[in-house]
Parts: sequence; structure tokens; C-alpha cells
Amino acid sequence: MATGVPRSPIRSVSDSPPITLGYPGKKPAEEILATTPGIFEHVPTPNANMRKRLYFAENLSVLTSLAQDPGVCGKVRLVYIDPPFATQTVFHSRKLAHAYEDVFEGADYLEFMRERLILLHRLLADDGSIYVHLDAKMVFHIKILMDEIFGAGNFRNYITRKKSNPKNYTRNQYGNIADYILFYTKSANYVWNKQVEPWTEERAREYQYVDPATGRRYMKVPVHAPGVRNGETGKPWRGMMPPPGKHWQFPPSTLDEMDARGEIYWSKNGNPRRKVYLDESPGVSVQDIWLDYRDAHNQMVHISGYPTEKNINLLRRIVEASSNPGDIVLDCFAGSGTTLVAADSLGRDWIGVDNSPEAMRTMLHRFEHGTEPMGDFVGKQTPKRKATDTPLFAEPLPAENSKPVCCEVSDFTLFASPDLASALRSMTLTHQAEPVKRDGKARSAKAEA
Ligand SMILES: C[S@@+](CC[C@H](N)C(=O)[O-])C[C@H]1O[C@@H](n2cnc3c(N)ncnc32)[C@H](O)[C@@H]1O
Repeated sequence: MATGVPRSPIRSVSDSPPITLGYPGKKPAEEILATTPGIFEHVPTPNANMRKRLYFAENLSVLTSLAQDPGVCGKVRLVYIDPPFATQTVFHSRKLAHAYEDVFEGADYLEFMRERLILLHRLLADDGSIYVHLDAKMVFHIKILMDEIFGAGNFRNYITRKKSNPKNYTRNQYGNIADYILFYTKSANYVWNKQVEPWTEERAREYQYVDPATGRRYMKVPVHAPGVRNGETGKPWRGMMPPPGKHWQFPPSTLDEMDARGEIYWSKNGNPRRKVYLDESPGVSVQDIWLDYRDAHNQMVHISGYPTEKNINLLRRIVEASSNPGDIVLDCFAGSGTTLVAADSLGRDWIGVDNSPEAMRTMLHRFEHGTEPMGDFVGKQTPKRKATDTPLFAEPLPAENSKPVCCEVSDFTLFASPDLASALRSMTLTHQAEPVKRDGKARSAKAEA
């Protein structure tokens, strides 16, 4: 395995001149930050809670307004966005309702994204994080814009997600089953709850040795690491120097203690290796390739029916890793509300924005009734319903059906821009849903993934 040694002293990214992206129509950041804030009408809901806000509006106007709100500006712990990808596509729901249009391209698309990213940077807390979900088409351009706005030194990961099963591709190129998530933080000190994947029997096979005395499974790993050190870890241990170009992972006194506890394995040639026990490891640290979060891929997966809806467990991982209970999570391209439901189920407050009527209808229905198995949408252009079914959102309710079957989110406040407020009023909740008690602990993700 190749081992690189960081050069010393380590040069920070900020020491090098920044790389910027030039395109026509790129405005000064000050001009974007000075955009006139939007004004919104409050639309009543049964259990209004200002800590959870859903806006039916153009998101630039909402972000500029939130930038003036001292309760939000600089206090958002996590932003996740899944914006249009510049695909030149019109999206429809599973029930063939028009959802949204992804028609910006080139410089117009870049400036549309940059305006929102600059405001999102302003809204983030100093220890906040942002995840931007994109596909291969624009991810490189947006990476450069994010380096400009968040600082290249605050880039954390370029996550590759497997979004679907292999396709029977007819074009003369490789199948396309990946999309990408850019993860940045606002500073070097950020909320981070390490995520681990539990052991599977296959992964645990790496722990191929068994301690004869205890029966514990372990693997052997080096006791040295790349790079020369002049301190304790560069000194001889048991008469041995670290291999050339390396240093001990621990000071010699600690290595002595580990050896006394039986944690060092000595080869026949007298080379030390460290024993790492399976039962002491909670699992494998999550890496930057995510294979287990495909979007709806079989008939049993629960979905909202909104196009481009993301896997709820993908969002639960991001929310758990980069926020804590009580924090504000923001998604200004909310779609079917996956981020908002994930955040709510984990005891976070949230702010969601979308300007599509179908997205609003979907979110309000989802909050009240949850999702449905994908199979139930097949061949169903108008929903087949029995008289005994729970009524669809906004249908008049018979008295005996006044409780929702599944209430995912029940206490939130609705806002709309003046031009959309009356449309939103015609959609608002018909059920007097009970507020869901939250304790910050994860609820089961049902059969959604
Ligand atoms: C890819 S979808 C998001 C899907 C979402 N992640 C989910 O899991 O359902 C993008 C959403 O952004 C919304 N959108 C696009 N431009 C917008 C804008 N300027 N203001 C508000 N919403 C916008 C669209 O209506 C669409 O619902």
C-alpha cells in the first residue's frame, strides 16, 4: 500500500491563491446579500410551532428574510439541499401531477446556486455544516463555487452515493448509478457525531485471529505510522527504532503497557503488531462511498410519490452526523420533505422551503399520513380508494376518520409569499393531528429503505 507523508510544515489551503470560477453575470457577493428580504403571510395550522417552519415561496426571498431574523441567522446547525441538477427536465409525480422544472443551465444555473449558497453560508452557525446533493453534470463547477464561499480548507468530503440498482444501459458508456454530496463546514470546529456501520459477518472476517486464552477475535495492525518524529514516538522501543520514514503510533511507555496487557503480537522474527479486538469496535467508521441508501428500488419501499425524492435513511445519517437534538436543520429545496421528516423524527427543529404546489401538497399529506409502499402507486393515475380508507389530504373527513393513520409531523407553522398564500390556504390541514412527543431519540424508519 502506498503511504504518503504530509510535508512539514503542513501548508494550509488558505496559503495558496484561491481558485475562482468566472462566468457571465457573476454578481458581487455584497449585492446578493443586499437582496430585499421577502415578506410572508402566516397560514394557520392546528398545532403551530415556530421552531418548525414550512415556507411555500421562492427560496431566495426566504433566505434573505431569514438572514434578518436574529433567531435564525448564524444559528442554523445543518443545511442539506438537493437542488435542481441542470438536467433540462420537467418532473411529474407518480400520480402524473406537474412537480417542478429543472431548466436553468450554464452561467444562469451557477449564479442561481451561488446566490443561495452565499445566503446559506450567512445563515449557518460557526460550527454548522452544509451538504449539497448533485449529480455528475455540475458537481465540479459547484465544488469550485463552494471553495470560494466556504473556503477550500472547510471542504470535508465528496461523498459518492449509489442511487440505484445497475441499469441495462443501451448507450456506449458505463451505467450511471452514482450521485454526489459535497460536505463543507463553516469552520474547523463543527458538530460531528461519528457514524459507524455495524459489523456484518463478511466485514468481521478481517478479524481472523482468535486469542487462545480468551477466545476473542482480533486482527493485527502495524504499531507504526508514516512520518519521522523527533519526540517520544521517534525514539527506540525495546532496542528497535521505528522503520525508516515512520514513527511509533504510541510512546514507548504506552507500548510497554499495551504489551503487558497482551495487546501486542510478536512475530517469529520479533516484529511487533498491535491486536485490534472485534468486540471493542462498535463497527466500521463510515467512509465516503455510500452504497446502502438507494432511492426507491422495490415495490415495498415507502415513498411519497414526489419525483426525485431521496432515501429517508440517507437524510437520517446526515442529520445524526452533523447536528444534535434541538438544533435547526434547513432545507430550502424541500421537495417531498424528506429532510424535514428525518430532522423531526430525530428531535431537531427545522425550516423547509419549496415553491412547487405539488411539493407543498406532498409534504402536507406526508406530514399527516406518512408514505405509502411504492407498489401502491403502480398503474394508479387516480388513487383507488375504498370508502373505509383514511381520506386523502384536503378531502372532507367523515367524523370516524378524524385521526390520521400515521402522523409524521404534526406541529409546525406555515408561511407563504403573498402570491401563493391563497393557494396554500386551500391545501391546509383538515385533521386536528395530535402533536407527536419527541425525545431526540430515533423513531423506526419503517420500511422506507
Ligand atoms: C430535487 S427536488 C428535492 C427533493 C427532496 N430532496 C426530496 O427528498 O423530496 C428539488 C426541489 O426544489 C424545488 N425548487 C427549485 N427551485 C426552487 C426555488 N427557487 N425556490 C424554492 N424551491 C425550489 C423544486 O420545486 C423541487 O421540489
